[in-house]
Amino acid sequence: MNNFKLETPLVQSLEEFKEGEPRVYPLVQSTTYNYKDPDFVAGLFDLTESGHMYSRISNPTVQAFENKIAKLEGGVGAVAVSSGQAATTTAILNICNSGDHIVACSTIYGGTFTLLSSSLKKLDIEISFFGPDSTEDEILSLFKENTKAIFGETIGNPGLNVLDFEKISRVAKKAGVPFIVDNTIATPYLCRPIEHGANIVIHSTTKYIDGQGSCVGGVVVDAGNFDWNNGKFPSLVEPDPSYHGLSYYDTFKDAAYIVKARTHILRDFGATMSPFNAFIYLRGLETLHVRMDRHCENALKVAKFLESHENVLWVNYPKLKSGKYYELAEKYLPKGSSGIILFGIKGGAEGGRKFTTKLKWINNVVHLGDVRTCVLHPGSTTHRQLSDEEQIAAGVMPEAIRLNVGIENIDDIIADIDQALK
Ligand SMILES: Cc1ncc(COP(=O)(O)O)c(C=O)c1O
Repeated sequence: MNNFKLETPLVQSLEEFKEGEPRVYPLVQSTTYNYKDPDFVAGLFDLTESGHMYSRISNPTVQAFENKIAKLEGGVGAVAVSSGQAATTTAILNICNSGDHIVACSTIYGGTFTLLSSSLKKLDIEISFFGPDSTEDEILSLFKENTKAIFGETIGNPGLNVLDFEKISRVAKKAGVPFIVDNTIATPYLCRPIEHGANIVIHSTTKYIDGQGSCVGGVVVDAGNFDWNNGKFPSLVEPDPSYHGLSYYDTFKDAAYIVKARTHILRDFGATMSPFNAFIYLRGLETLHVRMDRHCENALKVAKFLESHENVLWVNYPKLKSGKYYELAEKYLPKGSSGIILFGIKGGAEGGRKFTTKLKWINNVVHLGDVRTCVLHPGSTTHRQLSDEEQIAAGVMPEAIRLNVGIENIDDIIADIDQALK
């Protein structure tokens, strides 16, 4: 990003332009593209020419979003997909076959937990979980010959632990596997995982990148900093028969992973981002820094208010000095730790559920990263498919309430929470 600070490329495209070009990148709502020369189209199929041929695989508006997010995260390339779940699935299936194994932090989003522990298991991809406070040796002891990746979230949803990047990237390097980070809750404005050793970064763009609660989407970003030719990833190095024997590693060098993610996983599984959603995300990114600053400011005030409330048992917010992850938050999230708070109130699971019914204008919404404050009782909603043990391992106590603090007036937010607690 040359010498620009992050806020400037968030707002400005900083690309070369021709006289009279539109200031806002246009929505190219087209499935297909015109060509005169069939040999050029053949070159697109052989990956010897670059260009768009069919919008399942690439589209100009989607590409503008991919380029912007790759730049913001400091990667060599990105592939936008249809949801955050599709981003995790793409990131993993791009390097794992049946018979492989993954190591992941247990305090991850409930949907990702189920994807890894249930759906990927059906494809014979095995998973071992470690706790957020496990030691380096404990994590290393989970690795096997067939382990292909280690996975964690910058800020765990909803446990709100902060990933110890230094520790996990050391483990990943020792084991010779890529370190995949879900950076959804932090966004590249609060944390850039590649600067802390991540090799692949994914997002549910449905959350803060959109910010308005209007589009479901996801993205995979490749740091271009992993050596795929270490003997563990033949599908990236050896000839691919579906591309006339092309080797991604030999042909695309640092971008091998992300080219394969598009030309293999996106082409075959088809979890494509719609151009309209990419258009909305490009608008969302332009205000990301302003929104995130306000989310962080409001959330810290709410967390401090909750901490001092007699009906509140505990509060998890990484930027609270009393919190277990305060030091990691100071190290990796200097600007703030997002708008998400997890807290427990007196009255157990029923107390937690009931609190959410007593709020006047803060609604129950299965969402976060939205400018509008909303609330959720994970135990009876997002995490209800998990066993009690799995819920606790994921950082969800029965009385826990997840609050997505929005960017409204802070006095109004606190007043609604206060009357519901009373
Ligand atoms: C941290 C995190 N990752 C991934 C996802 C899945 O994203 P999506 O709902 O866009 O599929 C979510 C959804 O809440 C999430 O919170």
